[in-house]
Amino acid sequence: MLVSAEEMLKKAKAGKYAVGQFNINNLEWTKAILLTAEELKSPVILGVSEGAGKYMCGYKTVVGMVNGMLEELKITVPVALHLDHGSYEGAKACIEAGFSSVMFDGSHYPIEENVEKTKELVAICKEKGLSIEAEVGSIGGEEDGVVGAGECADPEECKMIADLGVTMLAAGIGNIHGKYPANWPGLSFETLDAVQQKTGEMPLVLHGGTGIPADMIQKAISLGVSKINVNTECQLSFQEATRKYIEAGKDLEGKGFDPRKLLAPGTEAIKATVKEKMELFGSVGKA
Ligand code: 13P
Repeated sequence: MLVSAEEMLKKAKAGKYAVGQFNINNLEWTKAILLTAEELKSPVILGVSEGAGKYMCGYKTVVGMVNGMLEELKITVPVALHLDHGSYEGAKACIEAGFSSVMFDGSHYPIEENVEKTKELVAICKEKGLSIEAEVGSIGGEEDGVVGAGECADPEECKMIADLGVTMLAAGIGNIHGKYPANWPGLSFETLDAVQQKTGEMPLVLHGGTGIPADMIQKAISLGVSKINVNTECQLSFQEATRKYIEAGKDLEGKGFDPRKLLAPGTEAIKATVKEKMELFGSVGKA
């Protein structure tokens, strides 16, 4: 059964480790992530962007697929199904469809409007026992075609949003989605520390988990980050494994195209990436 991310993140914050959010795009990715979490006895959050939700034939299809897998694969670790960077309408649609967690990304609204919309969604999620993530300070890079620069959040604004009763807060600390440019100055631990001091027990979320050096990840966890989002790294490992398989020409032998064979190396590659991240984040054995 899907669970809200609240309890797993409270435990992570108290135990100084982070739960990974891995974005899903299809059946193979979902299966790879769930099997790895179960094998490593790690809690996990499945992230779904609005674009990926559309690709997978809508939120209800995603909920049906994930619930089916939890049962058929006999998954016992805590799993949350979470809307990633949701719009106000997207968050409502996911709540309706049966997601156990949503992110409302109101970072592009003026702070007053972000507060108002977040408040409304917090009330709905509280009533239904779902977790909700809010964002302050835009996270840069490209997400579903929208490109932004990595900002640092204002700690006062973070406190204002945290006080609305959200479960977790994504604060921009110079992190960006996708690959980091060579001249990236690194995470702003000064900002993270200031946000953590203002928001206390609130689990903080680090987006753009791909390509952040291990020592920075560990320092971020020590300063209150309890959830780390990874997407691009799974895409890259899937792509590389699939490319190698095609180049080897194996799929062209015999019966020709077989999706079960073609997608298998990429699926294994995602398992390896997820395992590496769960070990780095310290969530192994914490289910
Ligand atoms: P990356 O694609 O950089 O791993 O970031 C993922 C993310 O933050 C999803 O919200």
